Amino acid sequence: MENSNILPRHNSYDLPIAAYGDGCYIIDKNGKKYLDGSCGAAVSCLGHSDQTINDAIIKQAEKLAFAHTSFFTNEPAEELAKLLSTNSPTGLDKVYFVSSGSEAIEASLKLAKQYFNEIGKPKKHKVISRKQSYHGNTLGALAVGGNVQRRSLFEDLLIETSLISPCYKYRFQDANESDIQYGLRVANELEDEIIRLGPNNVMAFIAETVVGATAGALTPVKGYFERIREICTNYNVLLILDEVMCGMGRTGPLFACDEEKIVPDIITIAKGLGAGYQPIAAMMCQNFINDAINRGSGFFQHGHTYLGHPIACAASLAVVNKLIKENFFEKIRKKGEYLQKSLEVTLGQNEYIGDIRGRGLFRGIELVKNRNTKEPFPKNLNIAGNIKKKALDLGLICYPTQGTVDGTVGDHILIAPPFIINENEMNEISQKLKNTIEYICN
Ligand SMILES: Cc1ncc(COP(=O)(O)O)c(C=O)c1O
Repeated sequence: MENSNILPRHNSYDLPIAAYGDGCYIIDKNGKKYLDGSCGAAVSCLGHSDQTINDAIIKQAEKLAFAHTSFFTNEPAEELAKLLSTNSPTGLDKVYFVSSGSEAIEASLKLAKQYFNEIGKPKKHKVISRKQSYHGNTLGALAVGGNVQRRSLFEDLLIETSLISPCYKYRFQDANESDIQYGLRVANELEDEIIRLGPNNVMAFIAETVVGATAGALTPVKGYFERIREICTNYNVLLILDEVMCGMGRTGPLFACDEEKIVPDIITIAKGLGAGYQPIAAMMCQNFINDAINRGSGFFQHGHTYLGHPIACAASLAVVNKLIKENFFEKIRKKGEYLQKSLEVTLGQNEYIGDIRGRGLFRGIELVKNRNTKEPFPKNLNIAGNIKKKALDLGLICYPTQGTVDGTVGDHILIAPPFIINENEMNEISQKLKNTIEYICN
């Protein structure tokens, strides 16, 4: 935009000015309505005008805006930590509130490192993660992620990490392999890599439970994460699950890993935790990690000014209470099934749709040049970028990304609407996507 002092995310086109929120819609300054089919980036899970959350923010602002966490704790942070730990997988009882997903990842990496120092294993410092993953844009988080495009400019600033294969059935499962066999094959790459690096050197494996932006709602096959958990335990490697995008009900349960029947050592959550009403994220860890620190140096050697911000925690407390009290989890499952069907019926016959996948209200559509061979579109056609622009033109917010297959080629669209969406609005998403894809890909 001319005369703007904002350093833009993209220089190539002018953005509309968002002025109002109304349920699942954002309305710009000129009155144009956009259906938020992806909650921006899987953030606004309660839509854009929830009075309960707004009231909670105002109430807390009138009581106390800020009290530095080196001097005080505060009521909303304490209550939110209790609520999250009560509803989390066993043992994840200590919560560390930060302001973004990347900060939560940074905290998890530092906590893992400090834990091994406290228990007398200071050599353990290496991190293994997966290709086609994303864990954030700060340098530590970027270094442990496998998003080729976001890493590329900064490679020489990043700590060295190892990347194993993702669990990506549509592309990489062999024709003669069952789901279980495929899951074991790719999970066992973790064991090979730990052995290659030396178990005494490896501190953590980090993965998104359901992959988000980089590959488009990739769900793990049955048994994959159980084997990953087993390997981590066998080699005393901490398992960090990144649920910044897929947690907080997005795939159904409050914690996506519940469906994998495993419990991580550390988990990160963000996005839906504040539903966009406030910037908030969290890292949660197992009691044994906290116990080791208490027995050792006595405190986690980390910190930011806005840890446990009272207004952010009050907003998040209202969000999580609402999700639990109004049993959104069952609704998300049912709506997710409806969304999948609506996408399949409207788009399924389109020659450029390779795969429609996902869980709950977290769906990915992988686009291909040829359905039979799964050949992706050439990179220079910029299919994902063009889809984003055209959909916005047609009044739909969705989250397309290029590089789905290997970081360079492949295109997908991530769909992650607010949990309050109704069937008509889900059909509107499908129809607008159909019009967009036909316009861009033909
Ligand atoms: C899985 C995952 N981890 C971490 C992050 C980083 O979160 P933030 O952008 O809030 O720093 C993201 C952001 O999209 C994400 O999807």
